[in-house]
Amino acid sequence: MTVAFSPMFTLDVALTPRLYSLYAHPDSVVVVIDILRATTAICTAFENGVEKMIPVATLEEAWAYREKGYLLGAERNGEKIEGADFGNSPYDYMGDHLKGKTTVITTTNGTRAIEMSKDSHQVIIGSFVNIDVVVNHLIQSKRNVVLLCAGWKEKFNLEDTMFAGALVDRLAEHEQFADVSDAALIARYLYANAMEDPYHFLKNSSHRKRMQKLNLKEDIRYSLNPERSEIIPVLKNGALVQLSR
Ligand code: MLT
Repeated sequence: MTVAFSPMFTLDVALTPRLYSLYAHPDSVVVVIDILRATTAICTAFENGVEKMIPVATLEEAWAYREKGYLLGAERNGEKIEGADFGNSPYDYMGDHLKGKTTVITTTNGTRAIEMSKDSHQVIIGSFVNIDVVVNHLIQSKRNVVLLCAGWKEKFNLEDTMFAGALVDRLAEHEQFADVSDAALIARYLYANAMEDPYHFLKNSSHRKRMQKLNLKEDIRYSLNPERSEIIPVLKNGALVQLSR
């Protein structure tokens, strides 16, 4: 009698970038998560036709690209950087103005998380915009998975872990991801508490309060309930492009 062997893969969540080194592995698929707002903005840009996005961690790198004539999206502490073409609002990336274009993007936390995970097997961008296709891709990848929460300046934030929990909730249904870490479990439990009304669940969260002071309520609402996309941005040779599936 032959017993079918189904390989098992680990499912981990780095709750903050500081913890990522504990999970980093060259064979893993990493999902970078920055719900408010970097990964939501990136997924929205691709859904609106951007060809390529070059993520950079520092403003120096960003300005060097700007001097070469690249379009630049730059944000720090929730605010658009003066002189940049766009901030980090998903609304900045809606419309036809970026069809077929290449842009550069730098944000407070999201682009740092992309930078730190670049040595893994594959880095993809996750948000509520493309959650369905990200789940399918991770199942088909048949690899260990690390969900990397960008947080806020190396610290934990609620919204990224809530989204990681949404992914864990769906992936853990599949036997190949039976080995779910405690960090993944806590993310799932947190999502279970938030899923009824994520906007309300985040009412006391630090970044929601920060964004409200900057009149960015619509960005919060959109990021928690966006239009969906079938596109997965993936890091290839230092730039984000559409993952061909
Ligand atoms: C970030 O990278 O920290 C965020 O996306 C900040 C923001 O857009 O408000």
